[in-house]
Amino acid sequence: MRIVHISLENFRGYDRLFWQPHPRINIIAGGNAQGKTNLLEAIFFGFTGRSFRTHRDKDLIRWGSNYCRVEVKFESNQQEENKIILLTATGKKQVKSGGQPDEKSPFMLPLIFTPDHLLMIKGSPVLRRRWLDLEIGPLEPGYTFWWHRYQRVLLNRNKLLQKIKTEQLKQEELEPWNQQLAAIGARIIAWRCRLLAGLSTAVRSIYSQIGGSDEKAGLVYLSTVQLERTTGEKEIYQRFLEGLSRCYTSELVRGQTLIGPHRDDLFVSINGQDARRFGSQGQQRTLVLALKLAQLELSRQLAGDYPIVLLDDVFSELDQKRRLKLVEYMRGKTQVFITTSTEDKNDLPGPAVTVREHKLYKGG
Ligand SMILES: Nc1ncnc2c1ncn2[C@@H]1O[C@H](COP(=O)(O)OP(=O)(O)O)[C@@H](O)[C@H]1O
Ligand SMILES: [Mg+2]
Repeated sequence: MRIVHISLENFRGYDRLFWQPHPRINIIAGGNAQGKTNLLEAIFFGFTGRSFRTHRDKDLIRWGSNYCRVEVKFESNQQEENKIILLTATGKKQVKSGGQPDEKSPFMLPLIFTPDHLLMIKGSPVLRRRWLDLEIGPLEPGYTFWWHRYQRVLLNRNKLLQKIKTEQLKQEELEPWNQQLAAIGARIIAWRCRLLAGLSTAVRSIYSQIGGSDEKAGLVYLSTVQLERTTGEKEIYQRFLEGLSRCYTSELVRGQTLIGPHRDDLFVSINGQDARRFGSQGQQRTLVLALKLAQLELSRQLAGDYPIVLLDDVFSELDQKRRLKLVEYMRGKTQVFITTSTEDKNDLPGPAVTVREHKLYKGG
């Protein structure tokens, strides 16, 4: 996948921009608040119709304007296509694409990498679940739809638990919600397990390539439902129901659903040891790179092409050796956009454009 050109009108601080990026590596340099992340956001928006940093579409419209427009012309598998997204201040969003409507197609999802991702191993399970749900899951058609459903059922079930606690309702009222939660939850868990099986092989091989060591990286799904090696949806469903009845009393006390994909986690290891507790900072960062690059491979496997890659400000957080490994890995595979505020131009792995006050200039 590669962007041939992108054109913006009234997107964030950009009044107008027309840009034909380099087919491979694009370094976007510039000081703080000049529009670097905004440009990546525009690219992401041009493909997906949403932002990676806000749910409020209106924030994307330039202050004082009543619409914004993003057009991307991209090429995938030797075919060129155009996509235009128009957003108005009233909240109306119009998507026009050459060919069939494609905004749900998984290869339309650019791979994004921010300093937040660098906390993926060390940080809380929320970060790992967010990665699964927002970046890995959508590679399976249907995942996002069922994930939203699950959130709704979960919310309702929690409300019921609270009502049962205050004795406004009987326990039986919970039964249909248990069924739904377990059915949808089992589907999500089965999906995640399948996706992770593919990812973990890639993580292991990429980790040893970029880490240059014989350490073995591992990636396993850690569920609050007692899976014990089952990965079939039906069996997971059964175990989910059993789990719910086991923890009913504690759920009632807490007024919360205590098991299910919303509580699950990933276990990331080096030579079998928990990387979160025992990994050095260097090992943890190399692992995160391996996870993101494995994601790149999985995207290609499932969607037929490498997605474009957006690296927002990760350079300042990586040492020179890891920067080079990262860029070398992607070079020749896909088009990459890297923002950086680094002053030392010798540290950059390619030619740069500079962003100043939401205008692009050639050269670093
Ligand atoms: N809707 C908007 N309209 C105009 N300017 C905006 C809008 N949203 C954000 N900005 C401007 O964009 C700046 C941040 O740009 P950003 O791309 O995040 O900076 P950086 O170059 O540090 O990544 C903010 O300081 C703000 O002035
Ligand atoms: Mg930024």
